[in-house]
Parts: sequence; C-alpha cells; structure tokens
Amino acid sequence: MKGIILAGGLGTRLHPSTISVSKQLLPVYDKPLIYYPLSNLLSAGIKEILIISTSDNILLFRKLFGNGESLGINLSFEAQDHPNGIAEAFLIGEKFINGDDVALILGDNIFYGNQIKNHLNEQKNKKCHGAKIFAYKVPDPQRYGVVEFDANFSVVSIEEKPLSPKSNFAVTGLYVYDGMVCDLAKSLSPSKRGELEITDLNNLYLENKQLEVLLLDAGTAWLDAGTPDSLLEAAHFVQTIQNRQLIQFGCLEEIAFQQGFISVESFKEIVDDAPKNKYGDYLRNYLKEISN
Ligand code: TTP
Repeated sequence: MKGIILAGGLGTRLHPSTISVSKQLLPVYDKPLIYYPLSNLLSAGIKEILIISTSDNILLFRKLFGNGESLGINLSFEAQDHPNGIAEAFLIGEKFINGDDVALILGDNIFYGNQIKNHLNEQKNKKCHGAKIFAYKVPDPQRYGVVEFDANFSVVSIEEKPLSPKSNFAVTGLYVYDGMVCDLAKSLSPSKRGELEITDLNNLYLENKQLEVLLLDAGTAWLDAGTPDSLLEAAHFVQTIQNRQLIQFGCLEEIAFQQGFISVESFKEIVDDAPKNKYGDYLRNYLKEISN
C-alpha cells in the first residue's frame, strides 16, 4: 500500500501564521505538524509516500526530510498550487499510485492510539477492495463530512458540512482506497465551492456498495490543527502524552527502526547528528535500549 499526505491548502484560519509557511510546518509542541500524519503512515508499515503541497512549501519539506532515505522510506513530492479539493490528490498522484492501494491522510490531522495502526497493518498484506474511511464521534459534526446510519447501523449517506447533521460521526482525514480511486476521482465535478470533494468520492464508493466506515473508539484521539485553538490544544495534548507516558509521540526515527526500515547502524548515524535537546536525548536513550 502507498501513502499520500495532502499538505497544501491556504491555512486561512491560521493567518497570519501561515501566510509565508505551510500549516503543516508549524510546530505542534516539539515537532512540525506533518510529523504526526507521517508517523501514522510509517507505523502502518507504509514506506512509499507522496507529499502534495504548494511549490514553495515543497522546497521546505525537502529541506526537512530530503527524499526520506535517512528514515529508510521513499518520499516524493508533487505540487498542488491551488486548493482544488482533497479528491484532487488522486489526479495529482495518479502516476505515483499506479493502480495500487493507497492511504490518504490530511497533513493537519493527528491520530493517537493503536486502532488505526492495527487496522492498516492488517490491511497491508491484503488487496484492498473498495474504500475504507474512519469516523469519530464529535460534538460539532456540522464542521465535517457526517455519516448517516440506518436502524441497523448501515451507512446510508455521507453529507458534507450539513446544517442538520444526522449523526455525531464525523469522517476523519484518513481514507484508504483500492486501485480504482484515480478513475473514480476523474469522474467527479467540482462542487458549488469549486472543489473536488472527498465526500463525493466516498459517496461514489457507497453507491457501488464498496464503502466501509470504521468507527474509531474512545481509545483513539483524533485532532486537527487547523485553527489557533485546535493547534494549541494539539500541542498541549502532545505535551501531556509525552510527559506522562515518557514516550515521544510521532518520533519518526523510532518508528522507522521499529518497522525495520533502518538498521541499528543507520539509527546510530541519526543519533550522531541529533540535537542537544529533549528530542535528541530521547533518540540517544532509545539507541542505548536497542543496542543492548
Ligand atoms: P482545510 O483545513 O479544509 O483547508 P486549509 O488547510 O487551506 O485551511 P483553511 O480552511 O483555514 O484555509 O484542509 C484540510 C487539510 O487538507 C489541510 O491539511 C490542507 C489539505 N488540503 C489540501 O492540501 N488541498 C486542498 O485542496 C484541500 C481542500 C485541503
């Protein structure tokens, strides 16, 4: 399975902070926002990853990650200079996807917990049929795509930002599709707001009876960091988790080692260049653990 991180957009709700830099490069506590969705893909064993962003920001992402070699992954980049909609990722990424299964994650979404990782890991060695999306109970569903269920809890529809939501289950920013996704995305027309809507794509799969909605349980935390308040809340969340559980959430180097993408020797090279701060200390301690 391949992975795409959609990290373009205008980030207007975060202006002026995001006038000159991508939202996905802003820090969430001690690391850039994009580390978190990237860590979700790596934890799922996905190592071929496309980052889609604006041309200016691609230069900055390259500076941050290079081509992914030091993490043992293959990172490529494509530009989306205008936010023409989430589903446009499958037009831009068609060559990269090349008919494979693909997981798309939004660059400002943060998932914490094992449910998604376990699910994607199970999925990894099987061929995907249709689409899988992940829904999460929220207090303010009108801000999201919302899942409507019938009495048997089967999915009836997905409505984009409904005024009267038919449930509290919002569609999160992680989507898994089979190799048909690019062809289906090509059949979409822009919505009233001029975007190729991911909800329209999901509804096409639903019409074909090929949409599975997985409900994320309370063991998962889902945050998006699109507003000043949610960005700050996300930072506090990461701070609390890390300080109380003595872990580094979203530590790409650790995950790359755990997934077998890099050897102990490569990890040592990373540690040689690691910063003299808490993040670097964590890497140095982890190296001691894995060297024993
Ligand atoms: P949004 O938060 O909907 O848009 P935005 O990031 O431009 O922010 P704002 O609404 O404040 O202007 O996007 C959610 C995520 O999806 C975010 O990580 C950016 C990404 N995105 C794209 O990369 N391209 C797109 O065309 C769209 C619609 C979103």
